[in-house]
Amino acid sequence: MFEVRERDGLGRIGTLETRHGRVTTPALLPVVNPNRPLVSPQELASEFRCEILITNAYILGKGPAREAVLRQGVHEFLGFPGAVMTDSGAFQSHVYGDVDVTNREVIEFQKGIGSDFGTMLDVFSEPSHDAVRAAADVDETVRRAREAAALRGDMDLVGAVQGGLHPDLRERCARGISGLDISVCAIGGVVPLLETYRFRDLVRVIVASKKGLDPSKPVHLFGAGHPLVFPLAALLGCDLFDSASYAKYARAGRMLFPEGTRRASEVGESPCLCPVCREHPMSEIATTEALRARHNLHVCFAAIREVRRAIAHGDLWELVERRARSHPELLLALRELRRHNDFLEEFEPLSRRSALYYVGPETAHRPILHRFRRRLQERYVPPGAKGLIVLPEGGRPFAERFARVVEQVFQVADVHPVVKSAWGPVPLELDHVWPMSQSVVPDAFDVESQEAAEVFFREWAAGAGYPFGLLWEGVSTLEELKARAPGPRVVDWNAARIRATADFQFGGGAAKALLDGTVSFVVSTNTGKVRNVLVDGEHVLSLRAEDGLFTLKAAGARRLHHSFAAPRLRVIVDADAIPFHREGKNVFAKFVRDADPDLRPGDEALIVSPADELVAVAQVTMNRREMLAFSQGLAARVRESVPPPSSAPRR
Ligand code: GUN
Ligand code: ZN
Repeated sequence: MFEVRERDGLGRIGTLETRHGRVTTPALLPVVNPNRPLVSPQELASEFRCEILITNAYILGKGPAREAVLRQGVHEFLGFPGAVMTDSGAFQSHVYGDVDVTNREVIEFQKGIGSDFGTMLDVFSEPSHDAVRAAADVDETVRRAREAAALRGDMDLVGAVQGGLHPDLRERCARGISGLDISVCAIGGVVPLLETYRFRDLVRVIVASKKGLDPSKPVHLFGAGHPLVFPLAALLGCDLFDSASYAKYARAGRMLFPEGTRRASEVGESPCLCPVCREHPMSEIATTEALRARHNLHVCFAAIREVRRAIAHGDLWELVERRARSHPELLLALRELRRHNDFLEEFEPLSRRSALYYVGPETAHRPILHRFRRRLQERYVPPGAKGLIVLPEGGRPFAERFARVVEQVFQVADVHPVVKSAWGPVPLELDHVWPMSQSVVPDAFDVESQEAAEVFFREWAAGAGYPFGLLWEGVSTLEELKARAPGPRVVDWNAARIRATADFQFGGGAAKALLDGTVSFVVSTNTGKVRNVLVDGEHVLSLRAEDGLFTLKAAGARRLHHSFAAPRLRVIVDADAIPFHREGKNVFAKFVRDADPDLRPGDEALIVSPADELVAVAQVTMNRREMLAFSQGLAARVRESVPPPSSAPRR
């Protein structure tokens, strides 16, 4: 029903199958007011290429059109060929304090009008609700979700996550509805946050909800229709948005732009290239609500397309960081993200195709860099030396830039070179690992970034065990180095890189397991860099030029399987699927029984049977949580099968 095609952060490009066509997510569902459509549903389909819209079943059911909609069905009534989601009246209960409809009635009505996605009547948790009240909201919402699931028939159900600002309650509600037979999980109760620009609270609510939600289900963010929040919400794993703001702002005389709203009467010249702005003078737009509504819709759809582009290109984080500059509260929300890094990091791809750009002091706190620093602490074994030579941030790749310095230093001193970069400490032999060389950083840093670099460095150096670290300040530093750590030092850089990268990528002990024996390298004649690593004549690893990480070969997989106890690096698949992977076929999530919780999208993994027989080596596209949740889609791309032990060469 929902299949993910591309991902970035927790964001994803997916396909949602409906009885009224396919919907590509992230998607914007324009809110159609059945009493007062500003843009007709026909035009939404033809002109805006809108695949799904949302309208209100409560309003339809209470209004004069009730019998007509029941007779014709909601698609014919609206004249819309695509998918239709209907809402239940929970929002009206927030606005008016109460609604005169039951959960059962509104579900039956939505079935009666042929809605593709019908919404339960959830209890709207206001941000002001204390823990006791919000817990009651959650309990009643989950009870009604269960009731709705029993009543849904063949209508797809939208279940809601409530719980106000209480992260534990949000997570509990999310778990409660994830276990039920529902198709879309919706995060509700956030309109009061959006209306008052409380984006930091919005981040907390979305993250807490996502922690409890089934990752295989599409997530709708109720009432989020402002283009400002699309990138951030998509990054946190929201797939569907509904917008009445195009109409609300139009009515209030305002125009939406990607970075904020403006009064139409004050725009003067529109910077927008939409058909409305191209074909109508501003004086006409300023006085015509319908034109403003259409412009606003164009801007909203364009913003969603931009989010999809960013996910496909792997630069959604950058888009979020850039957009955060358009509203102070959004910047605050961006700065909140680092508090959730342990969760966000689980979903972060291993590397990307493009370079990482410094966008501001927040960049250093991205999950990918958080991971780099953590793996350095947990997995990297600092080589023995009498001290550290600390090299300054600047042009990359570091090893090339500092080649001459290191040569001079090693002649006189036995010290290990580490760069104090803005992203954290980078031992010189790991400088090729993405994104350390593949970053674009400014020549001079702001104070916050400099201080962060100090803190990152100190945190690592404290545990690394070197008696001292000396900052490289030019040849004058040589004298002091010579005195404190008399050398010389000789390093086989290729060997050092391979060992450090192996431990860093696969975990502590990997270098020992993979490189035990006579090691030789195939070196690229173009770049002089190691391409392949052979041990006792067997090809165990290939080093990728793009991200400086290894592709694991069958012989390497066998070594890691032998040395690492289950479940390390494993994806355990159903016995029935084993013959397919022996033939090199990919691993689908449906057949995954369990996996190493430390695997991340893009990691190399060992495909094993329930009895832990190694059958293939693969690159995973999901983390464990996702593999166990999804029943659709690819979990791992098999690189090569590993022959059974009888035919395996002895090692
Ligand atoms: N529309 C905006 N917010 C909400 C919500 O919390 N629940 C429902 N059902 N619809 C909404
Ligand atoms: Zn326009």
